[in-house]
Amino acid sequence: MYILAFESSCDETACAVLEMDENKRILKSNIIASQVDIHALYGGVVPEIASRAHIEAVSKITYEALEAAGITLDEVDAICVTNGPGLIGALLVCVNFAKSLAFANNIPLVPVDHIKGHVASNYLTHTELEPPFLALVVSGGHTSFFDVKSYTEYEEIASTRDDAVGECFDKIGRVMGLPYPGGAAMDRLAKEGDRNAISFPSPAISKDTLDFSFSGLKTAVVNYLNTKNQKGEEIPRANVAASCTRSIVEAVSSKVQMALKKTGYKKIVLAGGVSANSHIRAGIDKVCKKCGAEFYAPDLFLCGDNAAMIGAQGYYEYLDGVRADESLNAYPS
Ligand code: KG4
Ligand code: ZN
Repeated sequence: MYILAFESSCDETACAVLEMDENKRILKSNIIASQVDIHALYGGVVPEIASRAHIEAVSKITYEALEAAGITLDEVDAICVTNGPGLIGALLVCVNFAKSLAFANNIPLVPVDHIKGHVASNYLTHTELEPPFLALVVSGGHTSFFDVKSYTEYEEIASTRDDAVGECFDKIGRVMGLPYPGGAAMDRLAKEGDRNAISFPSPAISKDTLDFSFSGLKTAVVNYLNTKNQKGEEIPRANVAASCTRSIVEAVSSKVQMALKKTGYKKIVLAGGVSANSHIRAGIDKVCKKCGAEFYAPDLFLCGDNAAMIGAQGYYEYLDGVRADESLNAYPS
C-alpha cells in the first residue's frame, strides 16, 4: 500500500511517500523543508515563525513528494500525520492539512506519535527489524528508554528528569558560538579535543535509576565558559566539547547496559536527532558488543525530524486499525 505522511512538530515541514506491505518497507520520496536558517537568527525555534513557515511550505512539498515518488493522490491508501508531541501551532498546520486532504479525497487518516515515529525510522534502515526491543530516544525534546512490546505498544521505563540531551548540546554550542543547532557542531568539534581535559558532572544521577539529569552538566559547562569569558581567558572549545561529550557518552552507555540487564532484551534501538552523534553511537556499540546485544541506529538522513518515519510508524498504526475522524486534534506533550 502507498502511504503519504506529514510531519510539522517543530522546525521541519516534511512530506514522504512510502510503499509498505508485509515484506516491503520502501521509502519512495522524502521531502524536508527546513527552517533552520530562519531560527538560527534567534538561536532557537520561534514557535510563531515556525507555524507560519509550515503553512508556506506544506502544499509545495506535498506536490514534490508525490511527484518524486511517481504516484498521484488517487493511489494513496492512507494519510499519516504527527499529532504530538511538539509545538502546538506547528503541529496544527500538518494536522489540518492532512485532515482536509484525507476527507476531501476519502482516504483513511492515521494520527502518529512523533516519538514512536523516531523509533520507526529504524524499520526503514533495518528492513528486518521487528519488536520487541529496548529503545532509547535521544532528541531535542526527549531522552527516554522505552520497552517496545510491539509495533504500537510502548512503555516508557525511564527518562530525563529535566533537560533533554539535545537541549544540553544546543545550549553549550550556543554559548560557545557554534552554528545553530549546536548538536552536530559539538559532534565535530569533540573529535578535535581531549576528552579527559576537563572534569564535568555526570548526567547519570545514580546507579539506582535508569533516569538521566542533564541540567547539572549543562549548568556546569555554561558556568565554566562564563568564568573563562569573565577572566578574559581563551576557551579551549574542542576540549570543552570533547569533555562534555565524554560525560554524556559514559552516562548513556552505562544506562544502556543497565537497561539491557533490567529488561533482559538483547536488542537496542537508538532514535531521535541526537542518534546522529558519532560518539554516542560508538559508546553504545561498545557496550552492546560487551553484552552480546544487537545495536540498531537509523541512517543519518533519518535521524532528524522527517515524514518517512511518520509513514513507517503510521503503517503499523493503520494495520492496528487506528483511524482519526474530523475531530482529530494536536497535543503538545
Ligand atoms: O529529533 P530532532 O530532530 O527534534 C526533536 O524532536 O527534538 O532532534 C534535534 C536535536 C537538536 O538538539 C540537535 O542539536 C540534535 O538533535 N543533533 C545532534 C546531532 N545532530 C542533531 N546532537 C548531537 N550530535 C549530532 N550529530
Ligand atoms: Zn524529533
